[in-house]
Amino acid sequence: MAFQAPKGTYDVLPGTPFLAARDGLLEPARLAGYGYVETPAFEDTELFARGVGASTDVVTKEMYTFSDRGGRSLTLRPEGTAGVVRAVLEHGLHHGQLPVKVRYAGPMFRAERPQKGRFRQFQQSGVEAIGLTDPALDAEVVALAWEGYQALGLRHVRLLLTSLGDPTCRPAYREELAAYLAGLDLDEATRERARINPLRVLDDKRPELQALLADAPLIIDRLCADCKAHHEAVVAGLESLGVPFEPAPRLVRGLDYYMRTTFEFVHDGLGAQSALGGGGRYDGLSESIGGPPLPGIGWALGVERTLLALEAEGVTIPQDDRLQVFVVPLGSAAKAWAVATVGRLRAQGVAADLAYGDRGLKGAMKAADRSGARWAVVVGDRDLDAGVAQLKDLSNGEQTAVPLSDLLEKLA
Ligand code: HAM
Repeated sequence: MAFQAPKGTYDVLPGTPFLAARDGLLEPARLAGYGYVETPAFEDTELFARGVGASTDVVTKEMYTFSDRGGRSLTLRPEGTAGVVRAVLEHGLHHGQLPVKVRYAGPMFRAERPQKGRFRQFQQSGVEAIGLTDPALDAEVVALAWEGYQALGLRHVRLLLTSLGDPTCRPAYREELAAYLAGLDLDEATRERARINPLRVLDDKRPELQALLADAPLIIDRLCADCKAHHEAVVAGLESLGVPFEPAPRLVRGLDYYMRTTFEFVHDGLGAQSALGGGGRYDGLSESIGGPPLPGIGWALGVERTLLALEAEGVTIPQDDRLQVFVVPLGSAAKAWAVATVGRLRAQGVAADLAYGDRGLKGAMKAADRSGARWAVVVGDRDLDAGVAQLKDLSNGEQTAVPLSDLLEKLA
């Protein structure tokens, strides 16, 4: 074979539930007034450097950055939030009704080491609610992701929730944590990470480090009064919406823009990449990319990991583009009839196809089985003369003769 898809990428092929998962995750948000947006797959490199945070792994190690023919530095988007906020500011949506509620889906790009559930081009389904700090909005946003997973049939998703504080309480906490870490016997790499962002060290998965950090101060115990009240209101909102969560005081996310409400959805059936999705509040993001103060909250859910979670739980969702009817014509008059009939079915909104290629009964029935359709309609030239077709239920093989005059109505 001449070429293969680049390392860390994959092809979506027909017969999978890819769209069902990608769009199903966003269905509760669609019903809650989150309008569909699309932003470019590449943006000004500075947008991500400033928006996502220059000290993050995403910006320092994982961006696909290139110069275009005009010498501009562009980057394939590693995530969707910075681009959405850029678009809201550029089009002045924040001058209208608040919150600006949007949903999006599409490919993101990170030059990570590929493994199960981790790709270099991957898909996210996401939402952003921009313009208000109302904690009831935080609860809605979190609940919409929860409902998206539930609607797909996932039952073992866990929601981890915390607050990361804000510019009032976090700086003092950060210093306290840095001083605490300085008193520990840490290896050089960890010390370096603590220097760049001491909060990241808390999220280290190594048991020996977690043991060392058992008494580390936690931001959730150091929240200022406003952050504390906000967090309590979010918790109360989730409780009244019936969304179960686990307090996760050591949760740290890979992007720097988060403050206050921060959360992650995890699944234990995925192996090392247990994060199914995540998000939080980013009230300082607009200013960091040169905009006015403009709070916001949102999430992004990984589509590939959602498909892996469905597989791990043994949940099947309908594959995309399922045919309902497959017509098998035997003979040239029957074929002409079949072409006209699938045309009428399609016009009535029934997904229908026919056996092309004049393959004879055996080959055509094989095609019918492979098509995934529920019903096969088998017609020979003699059946046409007699005014009947054989209607076969492909789920159980039962076959009945149906008058042609009743067929369309019956199938519709
Ligand atoms: P994130 O946690 O970086 O957040 O990514 C969200 C989800 O995307 C992850 O939980 C994971 O399921 C999926 N994901 C990330 N990287 C990969 C990868 N290399 N391969 C496969 N899946 C991956 C964000 O991107 C934020 N923009 C979310 C957000 C929206 N926060 C506020 N609004």
